[in-house]
Amino acid sequence: MKITSGVRVGLLVFAVGCAESTETMTSVADVQELMLSVMEPAAETYWDAVGEILDSAGVHEIRPQTDEDWEAVLGAAFVIAESGNLLMMSGRARDRGEWVTMSERMIDAGRQAISAATARNAAAVFDAGAEVYYVCRDCHTVYATETLRPSDAAAETQGG
Ligand code: HEC
Repeated sequence: MKITSGVRVGLLVFAVGCAESTETMTSVADVQELMLSVMEPAAETYWDAVGEILDSAGVHEIRPQTDEDWEAVLGAAFVIAESGNLLMMSGRARDRGEWVTMSERMIDAGRQAISAATARNAAAVFDAGAEVYYVCRDCHTVYATETLRPSDAAAETQGG
């Protein structure tokens, strides 16, 4: 009996704790604004940081060069990771199931992106960028079928 009531008290404390923490958080952007003004720019910064350009002179490797370049990549990775938390806030979360799973995957991919940027490892940044991209795409496949691929021309014109 004692254990049972202990558990009940524990659950109550947990529930009150949750209510308090959501009360102090106020979302400013709606999901669309978060996508267009926070997530998309950060993801583009990250994706554009490493790659290859092919022209008539051959293949040119794109790599962050200066400390500042790398700091920008790292900053973008943090925005990507933390945006997973922003997506889970009440008011934004569309449900407490798959949406939360996708948001947690965003955090994981973001952590991978942070490690790669911290190590200043261009190949790892490329791989982490792909992981990030899969999460964007997978969530859109379920919740935003008009925006399947985040850097689609269609997505850009929709926002404009
Ligand atoms: C947890 C789910 C989820 C994740 C993860 C997610 N998105 Fe979205 N995204 C949405 C939803 C839902 C919409 C539709 C928003 C609306 O119009 O209400 C959307 C729309 C968009 C749009 C179109 C906005 C417009 O109306 O023009 C862009 C661009 C976009 N997302 C970029 C991204 C990028 C880049 C990532 C990954 C870094 C990403 N999204 C990850 C759910 C997600």
